[in-house]
Amino acid sequence: MRALVTGGSGFIGSHIVQRLVENGHKVRVVDDFSTGKRENLDPVARDVEIITGDVRDRAAMDKHAAGCEVIFHQAAVVSVPYSVEHPEETHAVNIMGTLNVLMAARKHGVRRVVFASSAAVYGDEPTLPKRESMTPDPISPYGVEKLTSEHYLRAFSRLYGLETVALRYFNVFGPRQDPSSPYSGVISVFVNRILEGKPVDIFGDGKQSRDFVYVANVVDANISAATTSGVSGRVYNIACGGRTTLVELADAIGHAAGTKVTKRFGEPRPGDIKESLADVSRARTELGYAPRVSIEEGLKNLVSYA
Ligand code: UD1
Repeated sequence: MRALVTGGSGFIGSHIVQRLVENGHKVRVVDDFSTGKRENLDPVARDVEIITGDVRDRAAMDKHAAGCEVIFHQAAVVSVPYSVEHPEETHAVNIMGTLNVLMAARKHGVRRVVFASSAAVYGDEPTLPKRESMTPDPISPYGVEKLTSEHYLRAFSRLYGLETVALRYFNVFGPRQDPSSPYSGVISVFVNRILEGKPVDIFGDGKQSRDFVYVANVVDANISAATTSGVSGRVYNIACGGRTTLVELADAIGHAAGTKVTKRFGEPRPGDIKESLADVSRARTELGYAPRVSIEEGLKNLVSYA
């Protein structure tokens, strides 16, 4: 297939690009390089068309979608706290960007758009595990933007027959996740600290848990979402379907790195949810999704990469 990956130089996008190239597909990347890094595409740079572009630029997106069969729409401002501080900006990127992608896809007869949504659409509702049939209740502009995008996808699929699939990512980790921002995912931060021989800071008692998922599994889900028939207009949780507490996580990283971990416990982070767990049975049944890389194996890969 000929694919466009928006945000293709970012953490998850670059892994999707790499798999597509390995599978012999033609790939075009559009990225504004605001957080994505060129070196993320170094392993495949010669085989990929890389365009500097902004999803807010409707005319540009229109141009770049031409000739593509599938669009993997990964470009977004991915930070929840940043969206709380700058809702206008994240609205423009995360909603208007999606709309521009959908309009361009429709115009050029793109077969399918696969969208990177988020567990953030569920908000703070404590019922576990999260199922796609639950009523979403986002509590941040970021969550609202991802949910709104999902609705646009479904509307375009109904109105115009454009095939769309939304994947609700839970806590994704793996190589190329930037550990250096205040919004970085906990695994990238902890791995960095542990490999430097420094203690890890746990916000709260460390009993909070997350459904961590290694990035290769997320790539598998994207490929299935692009190629499985009869799933247009659907949304899917993408996670492992298991719970790991922060204390267990720190110890597991220490184990993978072959070192003992010192934990410093501090105040809980304001706005944190206590637990997160996905029911992944819909993705399993309809997309054939099975998280084949376990957390332990993913951590081992990550530690040897870092
Ligand atoms: C994650 C997503 C976010 C999504 C949300 C939906 C990532 C990076 N973020 O946020 O995009 O909207 O799920 O529910 O995947 N922690 C520490 N010490 C640290 C850093 C973090 O103890 O140094 C703790 C946090 O307080 C939190 C847990 O680790 O309890 C996970 O934090 P984080 O990786 O930021 O992800 P989420 O908050 O779950």
